[in-house]
Amino acid sequence: MNYGMKSMEVGALSRRIAIISDIHANFNALSMVMTDMEQFEVDEIFCLGDIISIGHQTNEVLHMLRGLDHLSVIRGNHDEEVLKVIRGMPSSVTGAEHDHHVWVADHLDSRFIPFLDAMPLSMNKSIMDFDILLTHYHLNPDDTYCPIDMSPSVETLGAIYEEDPYDIILFGHDHMQHHFESGQQVFINPGPLGLAPNGLAPYTIMEINGQAVNFIHRKVPYDHNDFVEGLKRENPPAIDFIMNVLLKERG
Ligand SMILES: [Fe+2]
Repeated sequence: MNYGMKSMEVGALSRRIAIISDIHANFNALSMVMTDMEQFEVDEIFCLGDIISIGHQTNEVLHMLRGLDHLSVIRGNHDEEVLKVIRGMPSSVTGAEHDHHVWVADHLDSRFIPFLDAMPLSMNKSIMDFDILLTHYHLNPDDTYCPIDMSPSVETLGAIYEEDPYDIILFGHDHMQHHFESGQQVFINPGPLGLAPNGLAPYTIMEINGQAVNFIHRKVPYDHNDFVEGLKRENPPAIDFIMNVLLKERG
């Protein structure tokens, strides 16, 4: 599948990359974002994890992503937890959240397991003058995720990455859209593509042109009510938490 992507040109003067994160098994949102990005003729797509879990459209999302050309994808904590269920490994979470992951694993088409299995925890990219980190969230030295900071700033993010050589740090996980620039580094969270409670799916276009980089933050309308109604019909474990917390409009 080639969603309006231009072919890679040797010596191309600019590179345009779509950054998506936290799709959370929302195919309604993902399909509209893929249509929206056609106008930008992106060279590639970076996906920052949490592809599945919370939403109910697991196999539709995995099918679409697996068919994409020029996709670089890392895993998120929810992808990891579902894989642990499939492998029979101990879960890092308990209660309704764990039950939810079991439910996702039960509904997941086994043909997609190798695709999920192949996703690394993080990834480094070097594009023109920029060294780029893709990570679902900030990692401790033992590769566990740091606790979520609900109010990050350029100072706190700069402190986390001050020893690291990256020019651009791309992350998701906290389900907020961020764009901070310190002068030395840029920190981007494109927002939770599949968990926007207002029916506007966020993602980001990154355009690199030699020594310059520019970001365009998009919000794409999709049929949110259809997604919510479908999710309610499926009635997975933790549905109350999903409806009242994760999909609730933030004030
Ligand atoms: Fe997430």
